[in-house]
Order: sequence, then C-alpha cells, then structure tokens
Amino acid sequence: MLHELLLAAALQPAAGAHAMIATEQRLATQAGIAVLKRGGNAVDAAVAVAYALAVVDPCCGNLGGGGFMLIRMHDGSEHFIDFRETAPLRATRGMYQDAHGNAVPERSRKGWLAVGVPGTVMGMERALHEYGTLSRAAVMEPAVALARDGYTLVPGDMLPFEGSPGEGYSGWAGGAMPHAGEHLTQPDLARSLELVERGGADAFYRGPIARAIVAASRQGGGLLSLDDFARYTTVETDPLHCRFGALDLIVAAPPSSGGVTLCETLGILAPLPLAQWGWHSVRETHYVIEAERRAYADRNAYLGDPAFVNNPIAQLLDPAYAARLRASIDPVRATPSDEIHPGLGALTEGNHTTHFSIVDADGNAVAVTYTLNDWFGAGVIAPGTGFFLNDEMDDFTAKPGAPNLYGLVQGERNDVQPGKRPLSSMAPTIVLRDGKLAMVTGSPGGSRIPTTVLETLLNVFDFGMNVQQAVDAPRIHMQWLPDEIQYEPDAFARDAMAALRSDGYAFKAIDLWGSAQAIVVDPRSGMLYGGSDRRHAAGAAIGY
Ligand code: DON
Repeated sequence: MLHELLLAAALQPAAGAHAMIATEQRLATQAGIAVLKRGGNAVDAAVAVAYALAVVDPCCGNLGGGGFMLIRMHDGSEHFIDFRETAPLRATRGMYQDAHGNAVPERSRKGWLAVGVPGTVMGMERALHEYGTLSRAAVMEPAVALARDGYTLVPGDMLPFEGSPGEGYSGWAGGAMPHAGEHLTQPDLARSLELVERGGADAFYRGPIARAIVAASRQGGGLLSLDDFARYTTVETDPLHCRFGALDLIVAAPPSSGGVTLCETLGILAPLPLAQWGWHSVRETHYVIEAERRAYADRNAYLGDPAFVNNPIAQLLDPAYAARLRASIDPVRATPSDEIHPGLGALTEGNHTTHFSIVDADGNAVAVTYTLNDWFGAGVIAPGTGFFLNDEMDDFTAKPGAPNLYGLVQGERNDVQPGKRPLSSMAPTIVLRDGKLAMVTGSPGGSRIPTTVLETLLNVFDFGMNVQQAVDAPRIHMQWLPDEIQYEPDAFARDAMAALRSDGYAFKAIDLWGSAQAIVVDPRSGMLYGGSDRRHAAGAAIGY
C-alpha cells in the first residue's frame, strides 16, 4: 500500500534523448551540460562537474579530498580511477589512540591530524588526459567563473552550510556563514583553480598549493610533508563485476568496499522473489536486512587497501558462499549481530561526500563519488587556498572494536599505515542489461552508501519505480554493528514495523540520508531518465 502511495505522490524524472547529468547542485549540472554541448564527452563533463561542485557544494565537492571515478565508454571498455587519499608517510598505527590505547575520535575527524593526502586534482588530470577530449582550460572554465564571479545562493543551496565547518571558516569566503540571497564569491578558491588550470597536477602536488598546505599542516600539528604530495599517485584498476538476475553490475573495487558489499548483498538476495513479497514488506525487509548484516560483517573484517592486504573478493562473491550465507538466515527471526562472525573465518595474510552520474550522446557513462568525508572534512583550510581538507583518516580503523564516524566497527586490515588508503564505502555503479547500458548510479552517505545504491537498484529493477521515485523512496539500512535497522520516516507501514519488532529487530529512526543521483536508460526507446534526490533541494538532473 505504502509503495503505491509513494508512487502516486512522486515527482517525474528529467528526460533526455541524447545526454543526461544528475548532480547535487544545479549549477554543477549546468556546467557539465555546457561542456557536453561544446562537444565534450562524458569524461570531460565529469571533470567539469567535479571542479564546479568544489565551488558550489563546498562541504562535499572538493579539491582537498578524494574518491573514485567509474567509466564505461560506448565501445564497452571499462575503467576505474582510484583517487582516494593516502595516509601521510609519517602516519602510525596508534596515532588515533591515547596513552592508554583508547581511540580518540576527534583526532581523526577534525584538525590537521585527520587529513589524508588529497587525490582529487590528480584524479581529474588522469581522467581528462586518458579519456577526455577537451583542454583542461575548457573543462575548468565554468568552475573558475563560479568561484571568481560568484553565484547567488537560493534557499535550497543552504543545506551544505548547516553542518559545522569548524575552524576553517575563518579562512574561507570572508569567514562569515553565508546566507540565502547572498552572492558568494570565493577569490582564494578561484586562484587555486587558476593555478591548477595553468599548471595541472604539478601546481597542486609540487607547487604553491602543496607548499601552502604543508606549511599550514605543520603549524596546526599535522603530519603532511612535501614528500607526501610529490609521491601521491592515482591508481587505475579494472572495476569489479557481479550479476543480479539479468543485470550485469560494474562496481567499485578496493580500496572501496562499496562494490564488494553491494555485490555480496545482492548475491545473497539474488534467487529470492523480492518483488513478489513487496517493497519494504516484512519478508522482503527481513531478507534484505539479514543479507546486509552478513555482508557488512565481512566488509569490516576482510577488506582494506589492496596495496597492503589481499582482499578475498572471489571468495566473498562466490555464489556458493552466497548460498551458504542465505541458508544461515532464519526465515522469521532476526539473527543477533553478535552471532554473526565474518563468514570466511580467519584469513592468513601474505556526511561528506557527493555523487554524480553522466551519460553522453555517444553512450559513454561516468559515475563519480568523491568526498571530504565529514561535512567540510577536517574543517581546516591552508591560508590563501580557499578549499577545505578532508578528514579521510577517520575511515581507517583507529582501534579494532572502536566505531568510526559512521559507527563502523572495523578490523586490522584497515589499520593506519604510511601511504595506505583508508577503506571506503563509496559505490559508483554502472548497470548493464543484455550488454547495454541500463543505469548509472551512486550516492554519498558513508557506511550507508552500499545499501542506498542497493535500494535504488531494487526500486528500479524489482519494484518498477521510475528513477526519480527510486532515488526519493525512503530507505532502510543495516551494517552488522550497531545491531539495528536504521530507517527514514515513512520507510515502513506501521504494521510491518510491529511485525519486524516481534521477529527480534530493533529500530532506529534516522532523519534522512544519502543523495542518490541516478540515470536510467529505457531499453525500448533508448530515452535517458535522470533522478536527483529530493533530499538535496539544490540538485538537478538535466537532459537534452
Ligand atoms: O569513503 C567513505 O566511505 C566515506 N569517507 C564517505 C563519506 C560520506 O559519504 C559522507 N557523506 N555523507
């Protein structure tokens, strides 16, 4: 019933016969569309959007963070660019623990000690150089203009400024909290962007920007050095694949756990008649939650930076393993999380983020999720640079057993080591059906990203929602620990919640999370439909 009501009340998606871009900020969407109309491809547009979001969504879009770009070109070639931050070379395993060995959360979340070496600028350079067609100046021009000439904040743009940016405000945009109606210019950021526009990655990693960040970090008690910047590299790997019914998913590889968690959950769910059971019905919820519980227990125990640990991906995504986990689900009772142990046994070892999705007129598809981690990252800015630095170091295991910002209780494989990348949950995802592009999607939301992507997929392919309905529908989430179903308002009919309670589930209401930005291709007409999550009013999907 709830499902029908939601469908009836929903907004319509944006439609486009040629191309589509969905982002969390309309001016960034427009920047990407302008680049496409100038003859750029989806990768050119992605770089333009990433730089524009650094200006118009400064909590989350960034120069001072990192992330992942997933590309599928129309010829079928696939690329996964990892521009995740790295731990400074002077980082140490116990750096976020006090003298008694207790985790000190503030240390990995705010201030200079929380900052990892940023990857965004090098990631964009690599993407543009390898897969783009336009000059750096052409794709950066909209961002430079937005920073230098400014833009007027409308009420919907204010969401990013609701989170506290910490001490960094004093170095940003005049130091005052912006307000709706204000024309916001960011001259320092414009200068940083112009430096990158002229000098490329070297301006950032071997030039004035690195020097400014390192000086500020030293002064603020951080560990960053010029060597950290000079040695930073992006990594390009093949994305992972998994099947879900007729769908072939192209997903993020480690150091993101996003793809593995999504695919492991889908593997457990694959043979179950979810659509027949009904959206967020008692039975469907039960199995989705139990699958998520098991996949997150594995995520937290087994995954880490592939340059440092072996990720048992083939084992985690083996259909026989999925069948074993499925068989461990009691059909009516919740399994307490303390009875769930990472399913492979011991192995021997040798809120803030943003996502955008793009499809161009040739059918090239790009999904990018990148982040500062928390709102405005570590809340620090190197004087004169105009952009916030990440607090990605909090994604490491500060101490096994101690929860991070997202409540994730993680293991040794994700410990802090010099030059290592912290395990991420980001899950840019491209879906094929019969070898053809069917969907491009992703979301921010920390540990809730894989389940947000999961629900967006199920909403489209199992529950028949259009893409706008699919991104807007209320969500549910379980991540092993804490042992609770997290849910948004209206996620359940009242009687479903009562029934689930009596099956042994605890619930926690969470206001709203994530911001899915998705594109779906109609298999018959080839029309593109875009959905930009209503939770972020500033967002827009625009097609043509
Ligand atoms: O990489 C990760 O998993 C986190 N740093 C993502 C943070 C995030 O999504 C915050 N946004 N709500």
